[in-house]
Amino acid sequence: MYKYLITLLIAAAVPCVAAEKLTVGFSQIGAESAWRTANTDSIKSEAAKRGIELKFADAQQKQENQIKALRSFIAQNVDVIAFSPVVETGWEPVLREIKRAGIPVVLSDRAVKVSDPSLFVTFIGSDFVEEGRRAGQWLVEKTKGKAVIAELVGTPGSAPAVDRKKGFEEAIAAQPGMKIIKSQSGDFTRAKGKEVMETFLKSPEGKQITVLYAHNDDMALGAIQAIEEAGLKPGTDIIIVSIDGVRGAFVAMVTGKLNCTVECNPMIGSQLFDIIKKVAAGQPVPKRIAVEEGVFDQSTAAAALPTRKY
Ligand code: AHR
Repeated sequence: MYKYLITLLIAAAVPCVAAEKLTVGFSQIGAESAWRTANTDSIKSEAAKRGIELKFADAQQKQENQIKALRSFIAQNVDVIAFSPVVETGWEPVLREIKRAGIPVVLSDRAVKVSDPSLFVTFIGSDFVEEGRRAGQWLVEKTKGKAVIAELVGTPGSAPAVDRKKGFEEAIAAQPGMKIIKSQSGDFTRAKGKEVMETFLKSPEGKQITVLYAHNDDMALGAIQAIEEAGLKPGTDIIIVSIDGVRGAFVAMVTGKLNCTVECNPMIGSQLFDIIKKVAAGQPVPKRIAVEEGVFDQSTAAAALPTRKY
């Protein structure tokens, strides 16, 4: 009789466990670019679609805010923690705390530099070195190896800033006629992109600049304004190549103000939660999951514009 009762109790409990809601803590970098906003929308809408309880925190581009959010996810005992690290370093202590609490970590969009790779389960995101390489390769072809380049760098110490610089420099390394004469951070924002481009143009070497390489579209769009205000034609007087592939970049290409954008795909919500579900269930997942992306220039911009949702 007792055995029969136990069996009945277990049978009744199983559906409850299976139907238990997954709780995920996600720490987002901020809302610094159109790319980031699209990424946030993709994550929030996918969680809602799947009935996942998402505890979302916006760090306003500050590492200290992200660390606070991660600690609050530990206190709330979420099932999985995911985050896009604003910079690559400085995460070991908090990641160790999360590990001690037994909560798995999934890195989204950007990677971290840690001495112990077991501090996170997997990293899903773009290959930023390849994106920089693609921008450089496109430019070598476009300029036939002759360019005086100004570079708008992303957030200092962030994976996309470090990697996109590396990939681009690698692609132009064999070209003696191509040199970067200006390189400064515009923090991935439109306002800073404009401000730094103004400084570049006003500098003694400003008149020599023939190319702008911006680590994201928002900075390129800000720089376009600065170039126009300086009485120059963006896209003609200064060739512009950037990264992301946001709708604003396609509009700028169609109007001839931007020459090329290398895609970085922010719509990773569905892929991210597929992985999170597996991680929560204790299933094995690859350590690195790449996102597929392409390159668009003025020859393909008009046809692709109607498909750009962000
Ligand atoms: O990490 C991806 C980068 O971050 C995007 O290129 C940029 O727009 C964003 O802020």
